[in-house]
Amino acid sequence: MVKRTPKTDGLYIPPLDPEGRKRHDGGRFPQSGRRHMPIGKAEISAPFAERLGQSPRWVVRAPGRVNLIGEHTDYNDGFVLPLAIDRAVWIALRPREDRIVSVYSIDYEQACEFSLDELVTPAIKPRPSVAPPSATDGRGFVSGWIEYLKGTAWSLQEAGHRLRGWEGVLVGDVPRGAGLSSSAALEMAAARAMAAAGDLPWEPAEMAKLARRAENQWIGVNCGIMDQLISAAGRAGHALLIDCRSLQTEPVPLPPGTSVVVLDTSTRRGLVDSAYNERRRQCEEAARLLGVPALRDATIERLQRSAEKMNPVVLRRARHVIAENDRTLRAADAMRRGDAVELGRLMHQSHRSLRDDYEVSSDALNAMVECALARRSCFGARMTGAGFGGCAVALVRAEAADDFVRGTAAAYQHKTGHSPAVYVCQAADGVEMM
Ligand code: GLA
Repeated sequence: MVKRTPKTDGLYIPPLDPEGRKRHDGGRFPQSGRRHMPIGKAEISAPFAERLGQSPRWVVRAPGRVNLIGEHTDYNDGFVLPLAIDRAVWIALRPREDRIVSVYSIDYEQACEFSLDELVTPAIKPRPSVAPPSATDGRGFVSGWIEYLKGTAWSLQEAGHRLRGWEGVLVGDVPRGAGLSSSAALEMAAARAMAAAGDLPWEPAEMAKLARRAENQWIGVNCGIMDQLISAAGRAGHALLIDCRSLQTEPVPLPPGTSVVVLDTSTRRGLVDSAYNERRRQCEEAARLLGVPALRDATIERLQRSAEKMNPVVLRRARHVIAENDRTLRAADAMRRGDAVELGRLMHQSHRSLRDDYEVSSDALNAMVECALARRSCFGARMTGAGFGGCAVALVRAEAADDFVRGTAAAYQHKTGHSPAVYVCQAADGVEMM
């Protein structure tokens, strides 16, 4: 069995998950300033062969993501501008004659299986991390990863797809709980694996919708479409402008001479789900008061005209969403022109709006963004993802990226006492069969 050895050189030791087990990223959590070695096909084919005695029939890869701009707009039918990153969930598999899905997780050192015939429509379930154990590895350790595969299979079957059993191994290097969409990557990898084994047609947007349904209804997290769709449809070297109403996507190139840097505050906040759902409700209320189907259809002028009949908190939430949609479209324009300065300016505005109007930032995220913006090589920085903890993203001059990474990590550590993980990431392709 090929075991991956966590690198702990004193810079950063990966935290344990609540069960005291290794994280989903299995110790691959990046070290500030180091070049990341993405997982390759060989790295999953070898453990597959060791367990199952032959080469896998298929190998699939589904990436995580970082969002450049367009935050908390997806569930308002708005625009987002994420990129798929060079960290992904991989599954190597072969078909089975029966209707069992049997998977070994390298990161959790845990085998789980389920029958495609046992997936009954769930009532909204609690999150897997707090759900009663669905599987153990014989030593009493439990984890919820298999629920993402079950939920995806359930969703595909609900949509009328006829699935077949398969067996394989699973590995990933998307940091879990960091706001880089490790769950969406797992769902999309599962969807691709199910589609390969069942010989289903692969239509990225349709599959992303089914994976989101798994997240919403099986896992019980009420997310929008951004994470699954960028994992499905990302393009190397590009961000994707996504219209979350029509699901149309347009690849937009990163400005020449720039690098995208992920800045993980190494803080994680609980209660993100309830705050997220509260924001969604406030947005729906604002749309109702404005008489529009979704905040996507509102303008700042219309909001100003209705300001008096709105609760001030709801007003600020709506102001963020309406302005953020506008910023996202302008950011895509700036990228088409190769204008890194304008893109960076819009990212900074986005951060201020998320901090002050949407109130989903945190002291650690604000500190990280300030440390990043203090460096001359930085065009712009902002929190990314749902917020409250996790990661910020920065756009920096490529030639100074290594220096930016070291300087920002050191400044943040000095300011907050937290050990961050700061690293350059590459814009990668979406789901692939390797
Ligand atoms: C989470 C959700 C996404 C999106 C972002 C905020 O990542 O999964 O659908 O709403 O938060 O932009």
